[in-house]
Amino acid sequence: MTALEKLRFVRGVIFEAIVSTYTPDGRPNAAPMGVVSDDMRHLAISPFTTTQTFTNLKRGGCAVVNFVADASTFYKTAFKNEGVKSAYGDDFFKRAEVVDAPQLKEVDALLEVSVVKLQEEENRAQVICRIDRWERRTSRFQPYCRGGFAAIEAIIHATRIRMFLAQGSEGEARRLMELVEYYQQLIARVAPDSEYSSIIEDVIARIDVWKEKSSLKESSFV
Ligand SMILES: Cc1cc2nc3c(=O)[nH]c(=O)nc-3n(C[C@H](O)[C@H](O)[C@H](O)COP(=O)(O)O)c2cc1C
Repeated sequence: MTALEKLRFVRGVIFEAIVSTYTPDGRPNAAPMGVVSDDMRHLAISPFTTTQTFTNLKRGGCAVVNFVADASTFYKTAFKNEGVKSAYGDDFFKRAEVVDAPQLKEVDALLEVSVVKLQEEENRAQVICRIDRWERRTSRFQPYCRGGFAAIEAIIHATRIRMFLAQGSEGEARRLMELVEYYQQLIARVAPDSEYSSIIEDVIARIDVWKEKSSLKESSFV
């Protein structure tokens, strides 16, 4: 089993992480970034070329990919330079073990990675990394994927759509169907051919059946 398989990665699915790096003058930096693996051995990060993370990856050639479950770490690291209260300080980090990068102190899991290929496009780069070391601190660790959240939201909305259609509350049902459609598109983007895409297809098929049984037959939903 590869490190990514042990961390419950799924091929082609985007997981949200916090990438930590050193700036060229040695300051620790952290930013949320989506990461994806096509071969379960390497990880691709796609930073915009305007980000500090891109500069640091290009210059330093390594990073730590940190996994956390709390929204506040995403918030603090995304807006650290824009007046966020309690933005992180240096005690937020410690040195990684095998790569020359900082790691977050409080994490559920992490990957220490080295850049093996960096392809710069117009606005965004494709940075392919190999995994030099990994760590997992919680036994039932699951990296965060937006597709999981989207599938759960769609299921919640579907249960209400069923109720609204049975009651004949078409306006309410249509409003929630638009949200389900949005979640379907999000899942197609972040988690194609995954358990989440199977779930959303099933949810939508159920909604179609409920629609058939109700008066809302003409809708062009999905
Ligand atoms: C969950 C999440 C995922 C993100 N993914 C990316 C990404 O893949 N690439 C990117 O350039 N920015 C991404 N961002 C935005 C950056 O985190 C944000 O622009 C940040 O301020 C960049 O910081 P830096 O300049 O220190 O690198 C993401 C933001 C969030 C909240």
